[in-house]
Amino acid sequence: MDWGMQNRLNRIIKPADGRTVMLAVDHGYFLGPTRKLEDPGATIRPLLSQADALMLTRGVLRTSVDPAADTPIVLRVSGGTSVVGPTLADECLTVSFEDAIRLNVAAVALSIFVGTEYEQQTLRRLTELVDEGETYGIPVLAVTAVGKELEKRDARYLSLCCRIAAELGAHFVKTYYCDDFEKVTAGCPVPVVIAGGPKLETEMDALQLAHDAIAQGAAGVDMGRNIWQSDYPVPMIRAVREVVHNNALPAEAHELFLELKTAVDNGKDI
Ligand code: 5RP
Repeated sequence: MDWGMQNRLNRIIKPADGRTVMLAVDHGYFLGPTRKLEDPGATIRPLLSQADALMLTRGVLRTSVDPAADTPIVLRVSGGTSVVGPTLADECLTVSFEDAIRLNVAAVALSIFVGTEYEQQTLRRLTELVDEGETYGIPVLAVTAVGKELEKRDARYLSLCCRIAAELGAHFVKTYYCDDFEKVTAGCPVPVVIAGGPKLETEMDALQLAHDAIAQGAAGVDMGRNIWQSDYPVPMIRAVREVVHNNALPAEAHELFLELKTAVDNGKDI
């Protein structure tokens, strides 16, 4: 791998342990002002120093993130559909490669919609983006999107999507956790990170999800709602980091979460 490409990937997936805690705040590109992401700057600010990378759109990057920040940016470059439209799968590219370079991104991300009528269009865009990424040394993250069909999240489908993304040249892949997740990671020759999905009932559930994904071969998480929709987002991202980077068991990480939550409640800086 070329130096620039490897260097950018190393900024996201830490070479010390091959793991990453990415913070996803790109939801507004199809969901609008999602709960607790209504003011993206306010959501991002306290979490930024705890994230190994930030995944977002150029609009939120330019309006809501301090350019002095040195957190690597994974820029979403696909979109063009909305939750009230006929389908989420009919995405196009929404950012030129020149603008991604201008924004000094560490990687670009697009969604692929395997098995939909837009499969070929989104996979072709992936290959075009990989060609540009190889030209400029910028890695491409393929997101195996399921749109509104959350029930599609099983090992057979997700391993198909992840493998196709890797075969077409994606440098890393984002998918969902599922039963038999080790089949998904085993069949994918590039690093796999997981989305958290809709907010789970408890913080412990999300820590368990992160733990199980790591134990079955994930390189980390690209988590959004289960962090910033928590009533205690900073304690939550710190607990997720314990699981991902320090191999904490869910119960140990939850213990840290509770300690930090108490500190926040007592007005202490954490
Ligand atoms: C949507 C995305 C989101 O970034 C992704 O779903 C991660 O966020 P969450 O953990 O809230 O699911 O890529 O396609």
